[in-house]
Amino acid sequence: MIPKVNILVTGGIGFIGSNFIRRFVKNKDSKIINLDSLSYGSNQENLRDLAEASDYTFIKADVSNEKTIGRIVGQVDAIVNFAAETHVDRSISSPKKFIKANILGVYSILEAMRKARNNVRLVHVGTDEEYGDISSGSFTEDDELNPSSPYAASKAAASMLIHAYHRTYGLDTIITRCTNNFGPYQFPEKLIPKTIIRAKLGLKIPLYGKGKNVRDWIYVEDHCEAIETVLNKGKAGEIYNISSGNELENIEVVSTILKLMNKPTTLIEYVEDRPGHDLRYSLDSSKIRNQLGWRPKHTFHKALSKTVNWYVNNERWWKPLADEKILHPTPWKTRW
Ligand SMILES: NC(=O)c1ccc[n+]([C@@H]2O[C@H](COP(=O)([O-])OP(=O)(O)OC[C@H]3O[C@@H](n4cnc5c(N)ncnc54)[C@H](O)[C@@H]3O)[C@@H](O)[C@H]2O)c1
Repeated sequence: MIPKVNILVTGGIGFIGSNFIRRFVKNKDSKIINLDSLSYGSNQENLRDLAEASDYTFIKADVSNEKTIGRIVGQVDAIVNFAAETHVDRSISSPKKFIKANILGVYSILEAMRKARNNVRLVHVGTDEEYGDISSGSFTEDDELNPSSPYAASKAAASMLIHAYHRTYGLDTIITRCTNNFGPYQFPEKLIPKTIIRAKLGLKIPLYGKGKNVRDWIYVEDHCEAIETVLNKGKAGEIYNISSGNELENIEVVSTILKLMNKPTTLIEYVEDRPGHDLRYSLDSSKIRNQLGWRPKHTFHKALSKTVNWYVNNERWWKPLADEKILHPTPWKTRW
């Protein structure tokens, strides 16, 4: 019998991590250790269905805790690092937590890998926001990083550390950078769930500025499949951009959701833009497509409709999370 692969997933209670773990535990010959500090973006309900699964262990800990990480890294074959503070608006009013989780967290993983010397592979989940915005064309993996928010800067700093540890110590590290995700289990403060929930509650839908900011949207299952592809087939030391090519202005996304929910666009209300708000992100993902054979399987409209239905049918999941502060029209003005 082939022995099972042991994988440490950090931040696996959050939106993308929980989708990734569910997919792995159900389909694969792997044992998963999920380490998560249960920060605000997490919700244990996300993986309630796996509580009894024999190939799944949950550890409540901070990724920047070097001792705990050091103990686990020596026992696993691979690490997928999702752990991060992730809400840009919160990073504007309270940046310190982002430095600790997003930079010191990665440092502690890298140090543990350096000391363990067991050739463990790290796939670090990065973001398009590290490149900053671009008015036309798309960023490739060779482009410079030019982050705008404290969140993006903390993720870019983590990338730099990973690059240096690969060069200096020969660690098996890979960085992925993905565009905006959507799908089930995304915390209610992010654009798509917030729009669905506010529309369901009959509240106005706040849109920053003129609603013209462009994001490239990817369904979370496509992102998880890309990470799995990189984990299995990616080359050490490389960076892989991940994108679907669904570039849309925020106003288009919000209007489509309202249409799917049979709600009027008069619900939309324009609010004061957040400082440093990038106008457009765009990634060229031909490297992962051509070299590793990945491509997205979901179309934007079908996946968005599935997502709207999930939130409409899972009020029990979001109701306890979606208080006034979380659904705030301008969260960057709030202290977190
Ligand atoms: N959501 C997106 O659109 C997107 C796009 C590209 C990249 N990413 C990256 O993907 C990763 C996951 O994003 P998400 O949207 O699922 O975020 P999320 O906020 O839903 O989940 C993050 C998880 O990390 C955990 N966490 C935070 N600080 C921690 C710490 N110090 N120690 C241990 N766990 C900690 C949280 O408790 C939470 O469960 C992040 O690294 C993010 O930068 C997200």
